[in-house]
Amino acid sequence: MLFPRSAHAALCGVLFLFAAAVQAQTAKLPNVTILATGGTIAGTGASSTTTVGYTAATVGVQSLIAAVPEITKVANVTGEQVFQIASENISDAQWLQLANRVNVLLAQSSVDGIVITHGTDTLEETAYFLNLVVKSKKPVVVVGSMRPSTALSADGPINLYNAVRLAGTPEAAGRGVLVAMNDQIHAARDVTKANTTTADTFRTTELGMIGYIQGGKPFFYRDVTRKHTVDTEFDLAKLDALPQVDVAYAYANVGDVAVNALVAAGAKGLVHAGVGNGSLPAKTKPALVAARAKGVIVVRASRVGQGIVARNGEANDDQLDFVVADTLSPQKARILLMLALTKTTSTKEIQRMFYTY
Ligand code: DGL
Repeated sequence: MLFPRSAHAALCGVLFLFAAAVQAQTAKLPNVTILATGGTIAGTGASSTTTVGYTAATVGVQSLIAAVPEITKVANVTGEQVFQIASENISDAQWLQLANRVNVLLAQSSVDGIVITHGTDTLEETAYFLNLVVKSKKPVVVVGSMRPSTALSADGPINLYNAVRLAGTPEAAGRGVLVAMNDQIHAARDVTKANTTTADTFRTTELGMIGYIQGGKPFFYRDVTRKHTVDTEFDLAKLDALPQVDVAYAYANVGDVAVNALVAAGAKGLVHAGVGNGSLPAKTKPALVAARAKGVIVVRASRVGQGIVARNGEANDDQLDFVVADTLSPQKARILLMLALTKTTSTKEIQRMFYTY
């Protein structure tokens, strides 16, 4: 029996209305691109109780998205696998590749925000690097997980969902690169991984997180004071490599072997992770002075983790022509010094940058 014309017309009408409704709903959702780089969030373990000893960076971006179908209800999501690594192995070249891709995407009016899935070991470093080189006010949210995708109560799916919600929220714009983990929103400059394995590992201990994500909705309670993203002076377009900057760690009875070796290996900048308020051990100081005399920029930071390294406090920085890291951790001071050296070797200018970003 042929399908009656009237019924056929009615069905076409219903399908048309349905398609129009879906299109209208989709048009209202933010367009979020997920850039996947690897890490535990893409990791797999031998069993559901494997939370250490798993393999990071095995699950592709489309599988990550498919594992959280709720994401498609809150955003129009596209995924790109930029690279697939355990983040302890991330390179300068991969930082430049990722940052350039972020800038290209955010320059497109069709992209409202970006989520970057990343291993947690160097997540804070990538987030801070991007905080200094992304040239858009649109939200960029870096997210990871502490349990692999195969684990009981894996934190990756909810972290990814929250990150997409945050990246799609207009209120998240203009705040610099954000880190969204464990229902918390942190600013890239001040957050650090504070525990080797627990889900609450990302903390901004003294300066504080900037908000929460509750029930999928972001809530902000403070903003950052230092310049970032569109307000920085660093321009990726002129960069195809980053200068070599290394970190020398201080501890009881330390000597000058590490400093001398790093200078001999070609370091253009040295961050000294000093004890206390950035103190210089007597057996290390001559090597740092010699490094400065060779043109290496020396930054005094602290291994302590919180607080300001005071200029001319534990050392006469004016006389030594050293720079102080302010409150930046040694690993983040290294990032700022790398970018600073793409602009200048003036310690006065570099010190200004450490008080600006
Ligand atoms: N290998 C570590 C990394 O990729 C795993 C840690 C994690 O992602 O949570 O950073």
